Amino acid sequence: MCGIVGYTGKNKCEDILINSLRKLEYRGYDSAGIAVIENGKIKTVKSKGKINDGLVKKLEDAGTLNAVTGIGHTRWATHGEPSDINSHPIGNSRVTIVHNGIIENYRKLKTFLIEKGYEFESETDTETVAKLLDYYYTGNPVEAISKAVTDIEGAYALGIIFRDYPDMIYAVRKDSPLIVGIGDGEMYIASDMTALLEYTKKYYLLETGEIAAISQNGASFCDLHGNKIKKEEQIATWDVSEAEKGGFEHFMLKEIHEQPNAVTKTISPRIKDGLPCFEECGLTDEMLRNYHHIFIVACGSAMHAGMVGKYIIESMSRTPVIVDIASEFRYRNPLLSADDLVVIISQSGETADTKAALELANEVGADTLAFVNVVGSSIAREAKMVMFTYAGPEISVASTKAYMVQVALMYLLSFRVALARHAITEEQCRDYITELEKIPDKISECLKDLDPYRKAASRLVGADSLLYIGRGLDYALSMEGSLKLKEISYIHSESYAAGELKHGTISLICDGMPVIAVATQRELLAKTISNMREVKTRGAYVIAICPKGISVDAESADQIIEIPDAGDMLMPLVAVVPLQLIAYYASVLRGNDVDKPRNLAKSVTVE
Ligand code: M6R
Repeated sequence: MCGIVGYTGKNKCEDILINSLRKLEYRGYDSAGIAVIENGKIKTVKSKGKINDGLVKKLEDAGTLNAVTGIGHTRWATHGEPSDINSHPIGNSRVTIVHNGIIENYRKLKTFLIEKGYEFESETDTETVAKLLDYYYTGNPVEAISKAVTDIEGAYALGIIFRDYPDMIYAVRKDSPLIVGIGDGEMYIASDMTALLEYTKKYYLLETGEIAAISQNGASFCDLHGNKIKKEEQIATWDVSEAEKGGFEHFMLKEIHEQPNAVTKTISPRIKDGLPCFEECGLTDEMLRNYHHIFIVACGSAMHAGMVGKYIIESMSRTPVIVDIASEFRYRNPLLSADDLVVIISQSGETADTKAALELANEVGADTLAFVNVVGSSIAREAKMVMFTYAGPEISVASTKAYMVQVALMYLLSFRVALARHAITEEQCRDYITELEKIPDKISECLKDLDPYRKAASRLVGADSLLYIGRGLDYALSMEGSLKLKEISYIHSESYAAGELKHGTISLICDGMPVIAVATQRELLAKTISNMREVKTRGAYVIAICPKGISVDAESADQIIEIPDAGDMLMPLVAVVPLQLIAYYASVLRGNDVDKPRNLAKSVTVE
């Protein structure tokens, strides 16, 4: 969580730091701050709240900071409530740091440092690192960093400035991401590339256990024993415009509209001769034939994408698929063996639980295949096989286009598994692919008229709670719809397998309670409609989402949102769009900060 940045060069760093921090605000927005070295002194300005709400005002009050070297931070609070004092940067007049991660043994370190005479003012774990660096510092920054991080347990990406080295930034990381941006006579650090796209596309990836010493002329790297490391320059493929709103009111709305293109970009390069192709990651048909089980492990929306995969793979190939929430998988001693395939799904490639699940699968000797959106991310580097999703940067905390392309890639995998296991013929597979290639146009069609979604959302905004129901693939989709709504509108909702309602949950239905029924599966339609009637008879206001041509009447639903028909199997790729937009408008109508919902952050790099 948290975003960190740093700049050293010839230009005034304040504006660059703030600008870069704004790009990282999606990583956390409980507080923000910067520290610069001005006239040989470290000056820190920080404030509770979002950058524009707190920090900008404080900087105005502080007057112009005339410095060319500084670090910045935007926080998602873990240790210590969001407050000015718990904000980063944290340090003293000699050494000051910004930190992304969690220091697990901070209590022990704090006790040690108190014994040594240090006093603490914040409730953060980070302050122990700042004080530890000060304790070990005798004039050599790299030595102090090596000693300090050797004592630390946990995850960290640190940006560090020392008063004695006014033109330098130091960085070190373990398990939390950090890159070093390469400019012309200026250098940067950042949690991810979106912060730097406006300035440079060139960067180095800092690995766990590496220390970077950065000046305006470049960066040098060494390990914790001081051994020099040579690193290769990387070039970002993302474009600066992709990380901007481009005329849309919110990133989320922009990202929803980018979905047709994202699907095309993700699936096209993986279709060869009309068939899905996984050669780029080394996954062969023979491997797919031999796996005993397929596990799909992820968190949040990415896990929901895996649920769709489970339904499709199992129904097409009769291959058992176990979908697991990463935080459960990692601690439940799963029945996993070297004969299994573990598919890891993650937009950020940095989600702590998902990463730990991947590490567990690697240890067991299972094959691991990651679907990841961020090139160079930890999961992308640690998985045995990787398929990138090409959604481009997803800034809104609520995942839309990243989920969409994860599902699209899941279809390609499902088709390939079915082909490899001789459950379908090449001809059948080509037909499926032809239908999949039509999906971008169907998504675009859903985006032509947004009024039905606004209308549906207006029915939800006054509700305390609501239900999403569906059967089969529609149930998998209901989970995603419900999560999206909760996340950004703060309205409580639950997703329920429609047939399960009568076993208890139906007692929640009362007059006017909204129920969103996803009814796209023709085979199950009659049953879903019965469930819709059951809730409608008991007073629910039913909003049905169904493909054109499916007959849902006024007896079963109060509002019917018709979407293009993609055939039962591919419907999730279309039906998710109304669910995203209903959540979006509910959030807008409630006056929420759509892209930065409370208590959340985009990439969850803590447990
Ligand atoms: O970066 P990841 O795909 O690993 O993130 C997983 C979840 O944290 C993420 O999908 C989350 O549930 C979204 N904010 C939901 O919109």
